[in-house]
Amino acid sequence: MKVERLFGFVLAGGLLLAGATGAMAEAGAEVKDLALKKIMKDLGAGMQTVTDAIAREDWQLVEKTAPQIADHPQPPLGEKMRIIAFMGTDMGKFKGYDGEVHKSAETLGQAAKSKDGVAVIAAFQSIQTACYGCHRDFREGFIKHFYGTR
Ligand code: HEC
Repeated sequence: MKVERLFGFVLAGGLLLAGATGAMAEAGAEVKDLALKKIMKDLGAGMQTVTDAIAREDWQLVEKTAPQIADHPQPPLGEKMRIIAFMGTDMGKFKGYDGEVHKSAETLGQAAKSKDGVAVIAAFQSIQTACYGCHRDFREGFIKHFYGTR
C-alpha cells in the first residue's frame, strides 16, 4: 500500500514536471527556423544576382546562377515529412510551384547561354510568378503553423 502511494506520488510529480516543461516550451521564446527558410533566402539572393546580371547583360553570370535556382537544395528528410504532413492534399499544388521554378530556371539558363536577353527576361518572369504563386497561396499558413505567431 505504501509503495503504491509512493509510486502514485512520483508519477503525479513526473506528470506535473512534464506538463510544466511543455508549458515552458510553448511559452518559450525562439522557434527554430526551418531549413527551408535558408533555402528561400538563397533563392532570393540568386534572383537578385540575376536581376543585376540582366541589367549588365552579363549572360555568363545568369547562366551560372540559373542552376543554383533550378536545383536548389531540399530540406532534410525530417523537415520534409513535417511539410508533407502539414500540406496534406495541397502538397501537389505546393510541389507544382517548385516544379515551375525548376523548369523556368532551366529555360533561363538556356536563354542566357544563347545570349537571348528577351528570352532571359521572359524566363525570369516565369520564375518570379511561380515564387509568388507559392508565397501567395501558402506562406502565411505555413508560417503560422511552423512558427506559431506572425
Ligand atoms: C513551393 C513553395 C515556394 C516556392 C516555389 C517558393 N517559395 Fe519562397 N517561401 C516559401 C515558404 C513556405 C516560405 C516561408 C518559409 C519560412 O519562413 O520558414 C518562403 C519564404 C521566402 C522568403 C523569405 C525568407 C525569410 O528570410 O524569411 C524569400 C526571400 C523567398 N521565399 C524567396 C523565394 C524565391 C526567390 C522563390 C522563387 C525562385 C521562392 N521563394 C519560391 C515557399 C515557396
